[in-house]
Amino acid sequence: MGLNEEIQRRRTFAIISHPDAGKTTLTEKLLLFGGAIHVAGAVKSNKIKKTATSDWMEIEKQRGISVATSVMGFNYGDYKINILDTPGHQDFAEDTYRTLTAVDSVIIVVDVAKGVEQQTRKLMEVCRMRNTPVIIFVNKLDREGRDPFDILDELENELKISVRPLSWPINIGAKFKGVYNIYEGALDLFKPDKQKVTERVEITDVNDPAVDEAVGAADAAKLREDLDLIEGVYPEFDRQAYLEGKVAPVFFGSALNTFGVKELLDCFVKIAPSPKPTVAEERMINPHEENFTGFIFKIHANMDPNHRSCIAFCKVCSGKFERNANYKHVRSGKMMRFAAPTAFMAQKKSVVDEAYPGDIVGIPDTGNFKIGDTLTTGEELHFKGLPSFSPEMFKYIENTDPMKSKQLEKGIQQLMDEGVAQLFVNQFNGRKIIGTVGQLQFEVIQYRLLHEYGAQCRWEPISLYKACWIDSDDPEALAAFKKRKHQFMAIDRQGRDVFLADSNYVLQMARNDFPAINFYFSSEF
Ligand code: G4P
Repeated sequence: MGLNEEIQRRRTFAIISHPDAGKTTLTEKLLLFGGAIHVAGAVKSNKIKKTATSDWMEIEKQRGISVATSVMGFNYGDYKINILDTPGHQDFAEDTYRTLTAVDSVIIVVDVAKGVEQQTRKLMEVCRMRNTPVIIFVNKLDREGRDPFDILDELENELKISVRPLSWPINIGAKFKGVYNIYEGALDLFKPDKQKVTERVEITDVNDPAVDEAVGAADAAKLREDLDLIEGVYPEFDRQAYLEGKVAPVFFGSALNTFGVKELLDCFVKIAPSPKPTVAEERMINPHEENFTGFIFKIHANMDPNHRSCIAFCKVCSGKFERNANYKHVRSGKMMRFAAPTAFMAQKKSVVDEAYPGDIVGIPDTGNFKIGDTLTTGEELHFKGLPSFSPEMFKYIENTDPMKSKQLEKGIQQLMDEGVAQLFVNQFNGRKIIGTVGQLQFEVIQYRLLHEYGAQCRWEPISLYKACWIDSDDPEALAAFKKRKHQFMAIDRQGRDVFLADSNYVLQMARNDFPAINFYFSSEF
């Protein structure tokens, strides 16, 4: 198969949801269809258990196990599917944001009873920034939940995207009878079963008497009425609009009962995009280009102190990646060869000889890589689009062992390279501030500094609302702002100016008083 065919058949995507909506269950069922696993429950063991939410050591242990399932590749028909796993725990949200930069589309899972929840909203914002095509799976139809029309309204309002149902449920909860597959024009009857595929009634149109026979006259009439309403309210499904991230097709089902999942997958492979061009600072990279390019979007450290290696996850953006070929690590300018790159098929990782755009290659690393690094065959390219978001929590980091300040410095730098948290240096007092998404990261950092670098640190509170990146077209205004706010100015690791706002009020005032200054909540602007 040539490069073009390999690209065309790839579908690289992530499943995202608020915890508990059913992401793990759905992932597992997709793997089941791909023949990648044979029994349900195999992925589940990798899920961060709810009971462990306050015990990060346990979480890290589980994360360690889950390296192999960070990417799950399998063949489905003629397609090669790569599912990129995203950590469910919200304290690792930053990890999820970065993973979203490596996918070509996304499936969002929503619980029919709970509707759109906070984490889903946030993740959708990231998808919107990149116009990522989105399919929505409304899950748990076997349980009581909201009216499907209300759910559609909520999806549109909360996720700020137009929706188009491609399947439609016949009742929900105890009376749930199945879904009408609008996309294929077929009726799928619900039979609760964890392993088996949906039972399908072949019909040619929804007015077929077979529908009445299968679900009863009353429900058949209601279904026809609902479908009429749908046709009246929602425009025809437009694949192009989906590919541009403007409309999200919606499916209904029950992941736990393997219901509606195959239909989702069959439609997904047909409509979801194959690898798309990637934007680099210098130019747009087309996946069909002959020369290999790729970038590192995730670094997974080995928690075992005896093996201080990491795995850097490289997304192939163009050309063919080959084992033992010479590639340029653009940031250092060094040429590198990778003797044991791994691919992720099913739940195993194994050494690969080649990989294609859309694939993820795991590169064993001992500290050479940083998140966002580019690999090429020689060209100077810098991929864009790995944003950092203003952290939610901030603390000063202080050295508690003066004999180990070098170790501490090195440890902090490397952990930041891995993307564990963000570092800002206050320009006024020179103190280092670590910003994270959740409390867990502070514990992770302290533990890893001690166990991997022999350095000890302590946290000191700092009350901050947001860290905003700033710039301006007016250098004088920028200088004036920095002078006035000098106590609250910091730089990030790239040396960019960051304003540390201690409250929303202060931020609003700063915006009013300095209209020439632009404030950004993400590092990519
Ligand atoms: P997550 O990865 O999004 O956090 O969710 P996960 O798949 O772990 O699902 C969360 C809970 O919802 C699990 O129950 C799972 O079995 C259940 N679930 C998933 N899909 C469906 C569905 O279609 N119908 C129903 N009724 N339940 C569903 P749990 O009790 O937390 O875990 P477990 O003990 O079943 O493993």
